[in-house]
Amino acid sequence: MKLHAVILAAGQGTRMKSGRPKVLQTLAGRSLLAHVLDSQARIVADRIHVVYGHGGEQVRAQFAEQPDLNWVEQAEQLGTGHAVAQALSQIPDDATVVVLYGDVPLVPAETLTALCAPAAEGQLAILSVELANPHGYGRILRSADGAVQGIVEHKDACGEQLTLREVNTGLLAAPAAALRQWVQALSNDNAQGEYYLTDCVELAVATGHPVTTLQARDELDVAGVNDRQQLATLERAYQRRQADVLMQQGLQLMDPDRFDLRGQLVVGRDCCIDINCVIEGQVELADGVSIGPNCVLRDVRIGADSQVEAYSHLQGAVIAENCQIGPFARLRPGTRLATGAKVGNFVETKKAVVGPGSKVNHLSYIGDAVLGERVNIGAGTITCNYDGVNKHLTQIQDDAFIGSDTALVAPVTVGAGATIGAGSVISRDAPAGKLTVARGRQKTLDGWQRPQKKED
Ligand code: UD1
Ligand code: CA
Repeated sequence: MKLHAVILAAGQGTRMKSGRPKVLQTLAGRSLLAHVLDSQARIVADRIHVVYGHGGEQVRAQFAEQPDLNWVEQAEQLGTGHAVAQALSQIPDDATVVVLYGDVPLVPAETLTALCAPAAEGQLAILSVELANPHGYGRILRSADGAVQGIVEHKDACGEQLTLREVNTGLLAAPAAALRQWVQALSNDNAQGEYYLTDCVELAVATGHPVTTLQARDELDVAGVNDRQQLATLERAYQRRQADVLMQQGLQLMDPDRFDLRGQLVVGRDCCIDINCVIEGQVELADGVSIGPNCVLRDVRIGADSQVEAYSHLQGAVIAENCQIGPFARLRPGTRLATGAKVGNFVETKKAVVGPGSKVNHLSYIGDAVLGERVNIGAGTITCNYDGVNKHLTQIQDDAFIGSDTALVAPVTVGAGATIGAGSVISRDAPAGKLTVARGRQKTLDGWQRPQKKED
């Protein structure tokens, strides 16, 4: 028997005040819908239906590379029951259905597995949660013996019902055939004039169908996002969870509340990350790596005992062990630092291979370049890699010494052990082991006098 997930994602999310549909808003760098798909639907379900409406084209476009998703249009938002009905027309009777919300991103897969188990046995299973402040939510109604009777929406609730603190999270699981019958029997005769999915509970009870509830462990697990404040609150809570997991793995975080991971971080032993760092994409830190405050690392691998100092920005770089980077360094995609290399302050690198023990310590641009071992690049050195049309390669061989403020006009090669005089513009290859200077000679004019101020 197959498990089908129906993700409700047709709502507009008016309170976000955004040009983007709500399910495309991001949490930890990924859209809410991506969270629901990757951490919920794909884990538990064999088939996934996404009910879309508002901004549907934008949503579909973002997930165009996932051909296994079945997109179901709900042209008019007539309620959660109506939304599920659209998907049910494409789900066979012998399936089990779990209903997920596109704006409830943090439900643990285990909770869903636990919710689906009784549904596979024929029951209607609903996920509830106890809230200190249940305002706005549907309340779970129970008889004196504790049996579930139904769900009453906040706007339809009265008196005593409003004091109930066990609320409906919205998530439920049921056998497809039964769910189809209930959904077809829904009416929209209620305070909001909508077809409420929640009315299925009363219909099930009326026909003697078994209904069971599962309580969510944690409010955060089932928290929905309706406005920017809720999104920000959830972001911090999610970040804190990630930080806790990493600290359990041995990462030292100087302040777990000032840490942002928008992707995957793999750490070795004794790594340390100082405050206000943003880690994006796939990042790997080997043993003993330390990252200073206010750094951004995106898709980088850093070898053992390397140090990245404050305010450095690294993207698409591979760093070997014992390297020293920053403060204020910018390593762009294609940067490869070999063992013991140093890239210091106000240095930008791009598609640059820096050999073992080589140093680019201050104020340089090294792009489309290959540096051998123990090369020393003086302050202010620039590789002129772009002629306005094409990019060209600069090669600097082992033990070369480039004087400060040198412009290397690519394509050009500086031979092994060569020395380049400061302030040179090197536009032809510089031979190995020799001093090459390419600048105007210094001269001193005898008898020259400073101009005098004219008296009048
Ligand atoms: C719903 C539940 C309520 C529960 C609450 C939890 C109903 C009737 N009520 O209320 O018991 O406590 O969630 O957050 O189900 N959607 C569609 N199409 C529609 C209407 C909604 O796709 O026609 C989607 C929305 O995009 C959203 C979800 O369904 O993701 C819930 O809809 P919403 O209108 O926010 O329901 P609530 O009133 O919050
Ligand atoms: Ca809602």
